[in-house]
Amino acid sequence: MHKPSKAMATSSSLLPFFFFFFILSISSLTIPTLSSSADSFVFGGCTQQKYAPDSPYESNLNTLLTSLVNSAAYSSYNNYTITGSSPEDVVYGLYQCRGDLSIPDCATCVSSAVSHVGSLCSATCGGAVQLQGCYIKYDNETFLGVEDKTLVLKKCGPSAASEIMGRTDEVMAGLTSGGGSFRVGQSGEVQGSAQCVGDLNVGECQDCLSEAIGQLKSICGTATYGDMYLGKCYARYYIGQVESGDHYYSQDHNGDHKNSSEGEKTFAVIIGLFAGVALVIIFFAFLRKVFEGNGK
Ligand SMILES: *[C@@H]1O[C@H](CO)[C@@H](O)[C@H](O)[C@H]1NC(C)=O
Ligand SMILES: *[C@@H]1O[C@H](CO)[C@@H](O)[C@H](O)[C@H]1NC(C)=O
Repeated sequence: MHKPSKAMATSSSLLPFFFFFFILSISSLTIPTLSSSADSFVFGGCTQQKYAPDSPYESNLNTLLTSLVNSAAYSSYNNYTITGSSPEDVVYGLYQCRGDLSIPDCATCVSSAVSHVGSLCSATCGGAVQLQGCYIKYDNETFLGVEDKTLVLKKCGPSAASEIMGRTDEVMAGLTSGGGSFRVGQSGEVQGSAQCVGDLNVGECQDCLSEAIGQLKSICGTATYGDMYLGKCYARYYIGQVESGDHYYSQDHNGDHKNSSEGEKTFAVIIGLFAGVALVIIFFAFLRKVFEGNGK
């Protein structure tokens, strides 16, 4: 503030600057935030064994990961077997997107999972990452078409009110009997979903889901939410008023995140409004100056 007169003189030249901020605050409102919850991390794991840098295995693995990302642009499940010149360089891999995810969101999710696994499992022969919206796995030993009911992740919420529990049982029963490899169910406030990885056949999928739902019920059955991830399938439920699928997935793992992003949105709206009002005032002040200037 050592040159106040200069600052006053250039105030009208600040106008584009204010305008820029106004546009910026408006545009921040329209940036889509829906896919962010599908991309949030659930779990990941890597094998102990590592491959040698610049080996044929590494090059096959890169081919595999690229294939997964490319395929996710048109399909919600696929598997690949990349064979090199020698049998020990074979890499097996697959991805599975959540059944209700659109194909563009599936593609975004799988590429996000691939970059996650790249930083999580550096130079390991095998790796797997589960995001909210998709799952990827690769290994040098085949696991394609093999049912796997190993418990990978279980997570239960705090205890729920007893009147909710009957609802939870109903949702679990619905998920068990509803056919297909992706299942959703709802009873009152309780919502649930379950899914198999696409390489299981109908019988294996049913077997895996029955196991996941049974464990979910016995371990988390009285909680406000539960997640049960087995090797090749998962079952989850959540208690809440909101029926939107996106809210369901973002709230049970990232309730705080969702709330804070909603708070940020409100904040952005307020800032945007202030900026808008300020802009209008400055614009009219500017017009008046121009008019007064012309009147002289
Ligand atoms: C996978 O890689 C590890 C480490 O190089 C090796 O010990 C194992 O035999 C490989 N498995 C297969 C099926 O090639
Ligand atoms: C792997 O992909 C191929 C080609 O898309 C398909 O024919 C095969 O059934 C798949 N295998 C498994 C186990 O999903």
